[in-house]
Amino acid sequence: MSIPDIVRHPPFNITRASHVRYFVRDLDESLRFYTEVLGFVLSDLEDGIAYLRGIEESCHHSVVLMQDPARAGTAECIGMRVASEDDIAVAQAHVRGAGGTAEIVERPHQGLSLMTTFGKGTPPVELCASMPVLPRMLNNFVAQKGGRVLRLDHYQCAVPDVPSTVAKFMALGFRPSKYTLDEETRQVLSIFLSRKNNPHDLVLAGAMGPRLHHVAFVVSDLQAMLRAADIAANLGYGREVEHGPGRHGPPNGMFLYFRDPDGHRIEFILPPMQYIDPEDKPNVWESTDGVSLVPWGGGPPQRWREEMTRFDGHEAAGGPLARWTSLTDPRQDRTP
Ligand SMILES: [Fe+2]
Repeated sequence: MSIPDIVRHPPFNITRASHVRYFVRDLDESLRFYTEVLGFVLSDLEDGIAYLRGIEESCHHSVVLMQDPARAGTAECIGMRVASEDDIAVAQAHVRGAGGTAEIVERPHQGLSLMTTFGKGTPPVELCASMPVLPRMLNNFVAQKGGRVLRLDHYQCAVPDVPSTVAKFMALGFRPSKYTLDEETRQVLSIFLSRKNNPHDLVLAGAMGPRLHHVAFVVSDLQAMLRAADIAANLGYGREVEHGPGRHGPPNGMFLYFRDPDGHRIEFILPPMQYIDPEDKPNVWESTDGVSLVPWGGGPPQRWREEMTRFDGHEAAGGPLARWTSLTDPRQDRTP
């Protein structure tokens, strides 16, 4: 597969990854984990729904936790911001014209919002034009807890057909910052797609999908990761510190993965590098070139490779799961 050309003037303007909507079993327990361990700030709590933001975020929420035992452990959608309400109207026509679905939805604490799907096997994406603004808590040190999470950065989703999904999102202006090729087939196994000024808003990897592997949030430093892990242990979530701390390969991101009380996976990362200029080409790796994408340590546990959040109402199917596992640690993919 060749990567499609970059679309510099997309039909509407997606600006960044914005918010995730999770279903949870016990909202009190989830709130304890998100505020005390990870360090989110509670923006609003009403009707069994909690709205949370990181301490650097001024827009109302980046995480929505919805108490619903029947759907606990699933997600409703991932969210993206668009630049204006005009973009919502254009998006609705464009997505429908491309064979997807696009319905205006009423959301508390959000401006004009549009729930979209881009066809079978792709993650549902809610586009949002605006949110109320609340105080940033960055300099409110008294209010800061746990890992002092700063802001949402990206999603990683598993999809059964990477090439077709890449084409759909690149048609909307997403730009690749790096991708991994199967050494033999030259198929794209995973790709980092960006709309904002760093390497990732949406990571796509080939596996049974659509499923949400993780949502990544930026923290200030390693100490914030370690503090969150220590508090997780204090509160009985020590075994839910799933993988890391460790270092991904380029672009040198340090990481630590947690599982929340419903199994949703949260990644903490350090502030990513910039990725802005159009002549800055994506990095390309081959899956079996011997360069591990985790340069030290033992690689992720099996549950990290296999367990993911499903999207409510979206059947997950297909996908080369075995190949995807090699993306994190190519050693797993070699014939003994
Ligand atoms: Fe990530």
